[in-house]
Amino acid sequence: MEIKKTQHSKLDTIDPNNSPFGVNISDHMLICEYENGQWGKPVIMPYGGMNYSPALMAIHYGQAIFEGMKAYKDKNNDVFLFRPEKNFERFNKSAERLAMPPITKEIFLEGLYALIDLDRDWVPTKEGSSLYIRPTMFASEEMFSARISNKYTFAIMTSPANSYYDKPLKIKIENHYTRAVSGGVGFTKCAGNYGASFYPTLLANQQGFDQIIWTDSQEHKYFEESGTMNVMVRIGDIIYTPPVSNTILNGVTRDSLINVARHNKIEVREERISVDSIVNAYQQGTLKEIFGCGTAVVVNRYSHVGYNDNIMELPTLKDEESYAVLLKKQLVGIQTNELDDPFGWRI
Ligand code: COI
Repeated sequence: MEIKKTQHSKLDTIDPNNSPFGVNISDHMLICEYENGQWGKPVIMPYGGMNYSPALMAIHYGQAIFEGMKAYKDKNNDVFLFRPEKNFERFNKSAERLAMPPITKEIFLEGLYALIDLDRDWVPTKEGSSLYIRPTMFASEEMFSARISNKYTFAIMTSPANSYYDKPLKIKIENHYTRAVSGGVGFTKCAGNYGASFYPTLLANQQGFDQIIWTDSQEHKYFEESGTMNVMVRIGDIIYTPPVSNTILNGVTRDSLINVARHNKIEVREERISVDSIVNAYQQGTLKEIFGCGTAVVVNRYSHVGYNDNIMELPTLKDEESYAVLLKKQLVGIQTNELDDPFGWRI
């Protein structure tokens, strides 16, 4: 793979251990262009702007997808990735639904390994931090016809990441706006899913909430996702999470937490969660925890849940009583080589 190294590392001015999520982009990026029905040769080069016009089809018609993954450094300065094949597979599922060409395993994974190796000094060591990895693909033909683009750019960029949220969140159960509809693109990581979520989230913010729990589009009766995360609920000592579907992202963190929980003999049920059952459990005192999970946040606990005009205040469990805390600790322990990895996820 061709590698053009930067002559001016930004590491002189940026401390990866004190870098807010996603703000500082590391020295290098991988770029690969698709044209005439095939991918060209990937190149790793200094991170920077590219020469596109505002006629770029991705901007007008939304053929744009991405992934989120992380690299971790242990005490010996060894760098690890976590289940990268899962992201590779999901990236191509998103590509298929958006009528974009699949990327090859060689370009995605070999490119990723080479990039992380080159920018390994960007991987932070502070507890709770990691190097966030952002593979993306977008339509790069420049023209106005509303049709499938003939050109694409695949890129991988990275950025040091400290914690995404630093507190338990106040969350609103959304019963008007919808994130995803059956037969739509909810299961993909396409850019439009995120852009379309910002306005309802803004309204929720104006009402004093940090984020939204999305409900189904037909009746707004069942939990789907939460913000940009999957959602888990603990009632009594059982964890419930909605099954993945064509409206729910197949989260790598979601799947990993389910496995870690079951490994700890905690019962997990992948079942639809009705808003009524949450209100009932709250009234009966059995609703113990609700938390979001995703690559960026890992696990984020919720403190208050708003529904219509009511606020449900969740119990403030001690860390040692919380499944969210236990599962996060164990997952991060596996990711950072602090704990054994019985699943063979760390590479
Ligand atoms: C992730 O957890 O990787 C996400 O999708 C969140 C991202 C949009 C910041």
